[in-house]
Amino acid sequence: MKPVKVGICGLGTVGGGTYNVLKRNAEEIARRAGRGIEVAQIGARRANPLCATGTTPVTADIFDIANNPEIDIVIELIGGDTVARELVLKAIENGKHVVTANKALIAVHGNEIFAKARAKGVIVAFEAAVAGGIPVIKAIREGLSANRINWVAGIINGTGNFILSEMREKGRPFADVLTEAQALGYAEADPTFDVEGIDAAHKLTILASIAFGIPLQFDKAYTEGITRLTSADVGYAEALGYRIKHLGVARRTERGIELRVHPTLIPADRLIANVNGVMNAVMVNADAAGSTLFYGAGAGMEPTASSVVADLVDVVRALTTDPQNRVPHLAFQADALSDHPILPISECESAYYLRVQAKDHPGVLAQVASILSARGINIESVMQKEAEEHDGLVPMILLTHRVTEQCMNDAIAALEALNDVAGPVMRIRVEHLN
Ligand code: HSE
Repeated sequence: MKPVKVGICGLGTVGGGTYNVLKRNAEEIARRAGRGIEVAQIGARRANPLCATGTTPVTADIFDIANNPEIDIVIELIGGDTVARELVLKAIENGKHVVTANKALIAVHGNEIFAKARAKGVIVAFEAAVAGGIPVIKAIREGLSANRINWVAGIINGTGNFILSEMREKGRPFADVLTEAQALGYAEADPTFDVEGIDAAHKLTILASIAFGIPLQFDKAYTEGITRLTSADVGYAEALGYRIKHLGVARRTERGIELRVHPTLIPADRLIANVNGVMNAVMVNADAAGSTLFYGAGAGMEPTASSVVADLVDVVRALTTDPQNRVPHLAFQADALSDHPILPISECESAYYLRVQAKDHPGVLAQVASILSARGINIESVMQKEAEEHDGLVPMILLTHRVTEQCMNDAIAALEALNDVAGPVMRIRVEHLN
């Protein structure tokens, strides 16, 4: 059988990796797919020194690929959600299947793209959009299809995890580690996407859709970054038996779905708390399978290429299948998606770590405890450190039981209004993941 012709748009880190893996493993890939996969054209403005493309035709205009009648599958690896959206919609209009690693594109425009793809009977595959080389989309969408999924929690931004790990293990400054992550090709073009949690929120939005069968709703995700974390909080968390991770949490509750990305204290003895460096991990809690944990490289040239090529193999195998009988884009049939709402952060519930900077007077702890107890907030533990030399303030660290964010907001406002409390109260959510 003739090979399937594909076009790669974008020859950066992931594009170069995809080309290299397709070449190096061509024979094994063909044995799996049932046909060879040939890169018929590359769309790139500049060469990638890590990828020798030989005689493969290269065009500077990526739309040449979407319009090339020889090409069956367009691989979108340019990133961003403007030109990439136009490119993908053009490819679909021309009846081509699409493989993409673009989480922003899927999280923001996925509903529109999938509707167009269904109308045209083509596949849009996006395994590489979440957690790089970990096949977590396939695991949730297909491997766990018997289950009612309760929650998904993941470390899904390698750059952020790398920064937190280096800060904790080596005491390195934030900016220095970020520069290294950029040099290693992990960070987004705009690194605020990594450190402010936007990249993780894109990925979490996708995970929540395939876990719960809801439309993609990136605009409703709550996103908080890691830039406000101090090394003191990292140390206090450690002393209390926790690690701070930048976690994405999607949880189904009776009132709606929690969809939130923020720094989180996790008990240090959980496997996921020990995921370090650029590695990612996604934990899924489901009614039949219980908890499963998917771990691996969340970014990088060949790990991400591994997911792109796996999608290509799936698409090649499905080329001759009836479009009605394919795995639905969002795991659930398009006409069976649920309208269970996404909860605003004020209605989400978690336990909390609070750091209160208090004056060193008798009775301050009693005032703090009384504010919390008046709102029904149960204190789990309290740790008070000695006064800091520069300002004489005493850091008071409290762990609470679970309450709603609204209740905690009220309590924090009352704490900050106390004469004996200086500056803002530091709040970090706590998840036990059990
Ligand atoms: N910037 C992303 C990360 C790349 O650091 O995880 C993979 O999506």
